[in-house]
Amino acid sequence: MTDRDALVEAARAAREHAVAPYSHFRVGAALEADDGTVFTGCNVESASYGLTCCAERVAVFKAVSEGERGYEAIAVVADADAPAPPCGACRQLIWEFCGDVPVILANLQVKVDRERTGRLLPRPFDSSSSQGK
Ligand code: THU
Repeated sequence: MTDRDALVEAARAAREHAVAPYSHFRVGAALEADDGTVFTGCNVESASYGLTCCAERVAVFKAVSEGERGYEAIAVVADADAPAPPCGACRQLIWEFCGDVPVILANLQVKVDRERTGRLLPRPFDSSSSQGK
């Protein structure tokens, strides 16, 4: 497994590519697959605002679209005093595609927090919730 510092560094590097002319809040994410491959993402903002995509979802979609279906951990880096946790939409998709993985949160001073998806999104809706009767 990629060590935690390397995953945080990959997320920090991905953040450099963020396109955030509206919020000026740049975010990077790095998602490690079971085979050790790391998929990165940054937030990409749209002039429509609503079509903006968060760094975590970019990383998840990149990985899924490359055929990866098993994951070890995700790291998220932003320039915030307290490391910023994923938004609700990203929590949902991290849960659905990655499961109960460690979510490593860091800021640029490399203050690091660690949580798990299951604690960030208690009682989630997923495919098991939508079985018809
Ligand atoms: N953002 C992320 O990239 N990840 C999150 O989990 C929270 C928010 C981005 C979206 C938007 O471009 C900017 O941060 C401000 O909300």
